[in-house]
Amino acid sequence: MRLTEPTKALQMGNLSIMHLIEVLELDAGSGIPLEPVGSAFTPQGSEQGDEASFDGSLDDSLDGSDYDDLFSDDEQDLRDLSDTDPEDDESVPDGVPPEVTIPQAQLETILGQMAVIVPCKNEDTTIIEGVLSGIPRGCLIVLVSNSESRAYKKEVMMLRRFCRQARPALAIHQGDAAAAAAFNMYGLDDLVTHVGGTPKRIRNGKGEGMMLGIALVAALCPQRRYVAFVDADIMVPGAVNEYCRAFAAGFALNPNPGTETMVRLRWASKPKVRNGEIDYTCEGRSSQVVNRWLNRLLTAMADADPTGKLAAARDSEIIVTGNAGEHAMTMDLALNLRLANGYAIEPFHFVELLDQLGHHNQNPHADGLGYNTGRVPNLQPVTIMQIRTRNPHFHRVTDDSHVRSMWASGLGSIYHHLPAPLSTPAPPPPFSSKSFARGEKLRGDILDYLADNNDENEDAKGELVHEPPKPRIYPPVSNLDLDRFRERVRSEHKTLICLNLQHFKLPRPNTITPPYQYGVTPPL
Ligand code: GDD
Ligand code: MG
Repeated sequence: MRLTEPTKALQMGNLSIMHLIEVLELDAGSGIPLEPVGSAFTPQGSEQGDEASFDGSLDDSLDGSDYDDLFSDDEQDLRDLSDTDPEDDESVPDGVPPEVTIPQAQLETILGQMAVIVPCKNEDTTIIEGVLSGIPRGCLIVLVSNSESRAYKKEVMMLRRFCRQARPALAIHQGDAAAAAAFNMYGLDDLVTHVGGTPKRIRNGKGEGMMLGIALVAALCPQRRYVAFVDADIMVPGAVNEYCRAFAAGFALNPNPGTETMVRLRWASKPKVRNGEIDYTCEGRSSQVVNRWLNRLLTAMADADPTGKLAAARDSEIIVTGNAGEHAMTMDLALNLRLANGYAIEPFHFVELLDQLGHHNQNPHADGLGYNTGRVPNLQPVTIMQIRTRNPHFHRVTDDSHVRSMWASGLGSIYHHLPAPLSTPAPPPPFSSKSFARGEKLRGDILDYLADNNDENEDAKGELVHEPPKPRIYPPVSNLDLDRFRERVRSEHKTLICLNLQHFKLPRPNTITPPYQYGVTPPL
């Protein structure tokens, strides 16, 4: 895969946010320039060609000399033809961004260590199968379903069929009582709902499903170093394939050795059909709102910082992946990060990382600072890679109220969890009460925005909502005793399916033996 090189970053404390890089070529081979094979074809009109071919016969309106630039060795001539003005982009002094190729073999190595979690709730089985078909062979498939039980059975049948050629996969249902009991007993009880005092199931929500997926991979396949998330309603399998390769490229391209990596994707376009025409709009409706407010949060942090070290964050507009449903992380990061419920999970990544790592008050004993409940141990410095992919993103169409609740959840992540010291009434020096005032101003502005979008700001009963919803914040998955979780789920599960995992067998006979070995089963 060939991409623009990650050269610019915003450094905020121990958090590095890279400027958006772009996929340029989906398959760039080994990265070694290919030698021409056989006798090179020389097009007419090239330096060895026949000048006479440009006699105007192709197009009466063009003189042969109009094509001269095409054969120029001088890059400046070609830049003059370009639509983009180099002066528009300060990061590219000569108009041609530096590029980098990740050889196919390197991508495959990373993909072979990746688990791809597919959260799914009542999606069309054929669409889910399409998503699976796009996940590269080396990746472990993990389907975490919250579908109705009949639909889950169909999903499992489809998964078994899909994996019949030795493809390793896991599936589990979010309502599995054994998983809920294990979460309840061994460290993640906040995720569990109870009926009559008995743990019943893991809460509804995409975020909750993703956490179950992380726990499952960490407990059952601990060698997987990377975990990625891909929605089950994506209609273009080729896009899924690109996303997974882009994740791998993002891991390979992290320029900061020793930091954990988070890769977040921004789609080339998110087309909508309007009046029978496809409108290739670039940014989703929720992303527009959430990105804007996350960037305002960065500005507020810069304004509140008396040291001036965060000045570059002011008006940077660097965050373009606030809602990235398609994202990936090093497993250590996924295990040590607090995560939010439902659709708040992606915007909250930014809010949490900014709070934990993104300012210069890195006092590990500053527990209880701000609205957040304290420092998260073991969180290493993090680099966020933002990548623009090339495929258009087609998924199940959602209605306006769904989009509204999604951006409201994003604003809720910011409003209720402003990073310290924006949320600390008496912050320790060198911060002052002015820092807190900046935070309050931002919260006030969010309320004004909600009020200005009155018609988009009603709850189910049609009553005006004054504040965005407060997300539920869960402790890191590392709180869970993974050994006990694994044993409990192994012995008592009702819905866990393990396919082609040679090292992990369930007592119940739901592991299929492939009729013959196909390809190479990757190490797990
Ligand atoms: N396991 C599980 N549990 N999966 C769920 C649940 C749940 O309770 N609720 C939804 N899902 C699955 C859906 O089936 C789908 O595969 C995926 O989560 C995303 O849900 P959608 O309903 O399709 O969300 P969206 O398309 O509006 O939003 C997506 O894109 C946003 C960015 O534009 C999501 O990925 C958002 O998280 C993301 O911010
Ligand atoms: Mg969707």
